[in-house]
Amino acid sequence: MRIGNLDIKNGLILPPVAGYSDVGMRKLCYRYGAGLCFTEMVSAKGLVYGGEGSRELLYTSEEEPIRAVQLFGREESFIARAVQHEALAKFGIIDINFGCPVPKVVKNGEGSALLREPEQIYRIVKAAVDAAQGRAVTGKIRAGFTKGENLAIEAALAIQEAGGAMVTVHGRTRDMFYSGKADLTIIKDVKDALRVPVVGNGDVTDRKSYLEMLSTGVDGVAIARGAFGRPTIFSEVLGQSVSYDISELVREHLEELLKVYPERIAVNNIKKHVVFYIKGIRGNKIIKEMVFCAKTANEVLEALLPINS
Ligand SMILES: Cc1cc2nc3c(=O)[nH]c(=O)nc-3n(C[C@H](O)[C@H](O)[C@H](O)COP(=O)(O)O)c2cc1C
Repeated sequence: MRIGNLDIKNGLILPPVAGYSDVGMRKLCYRYGAGLCFTEMVSAKGLVYGGEGSRELLYTSEEEPIRAVQLFGREESFIARAVQHEALAKFGIIDINFGCPVPKVVKNGEGSALLREPEQIYRIVKAAVDAAQGRAVTGKIRAGFTKGENLAIEAALAIQEAGGAMVTVHGRTRDMFYSGKADLTIIKDVKDALRVPVVGNGDVTDRKSYLEMLSTGVDGVAIARGAFGRPTIFSEVLGQSVSYDISELVREHLEELLKVYPERIAVNNIKKHVVFYIKGIRGNKIIKEMVFCAKTANEVLEALLPINS
């Protein structure tokens, strides 16, 4: 898939996932077949004002073949300044969030609130493209704001006409948050309306749901929750069987987090991932309890020892 001037080895994407798409998750998703992985969402204003925490969220490793970031914000001046910020210089792809449903974000007229303002979407993306100096600017949207509403085509066209190089469509409305089912018809309608690549997103968890998403004609497929604790999903949807060792995956994931965060925070962050890594395995309840009591990286790894015994 081609995004602006960049060739991506395939259309399998780990989208931005706040609290999850960290450097460890991205490393493993790239290894198991993802063509493109996004860092976690960052506030344009926060970045411009030097907000705490942006540095960790923007950390990337040498091993990431392509670096992709996501900004949110509603004022085009801040978006432009964030795109020009030196912390973003290493990113080849800059995505703008038009889908976040979180009340705090929506109340500020950001994220999914912008779906109702396609002219503002256009201004934001145009400002980003003008500031990006040839780097690709993309947009991520939802189907609409309230249930049954379809704002996606207008929003997607605004992104494309402003110079956006790709649009990801999550087939849910804002008020569905993450419940109900993603509407593939809306994703297909957006694909049919656009010239630039369209990525379908929502509820892909296995090969069957992946093929259903592909049947809409989309150029790429973004998998978020399906990749929690299961970075191998990107190979699995292609029909490739992969064998892996869960404790080894957690160890590698944690090792990456330790490069960015103090041990206490890395250990806290890995805990939510471990819940997914050990889902469905025998004895996972006890392992989970032990992991949640862990205070050091070694204690996390020791708690996982029963998996291989
Ligand atoms: C915990 C969580 C955090 C998320 N954070 C972001 C985010 O920062 N930016 C974004 O565009 N989407 C975010 N999303 C939405 C996902 O990228 C994706 O669109 C959504 O989960 C639907 O895809 P899925 O069914 O494959 O999970 C988040 C989703 C979850 C569950």
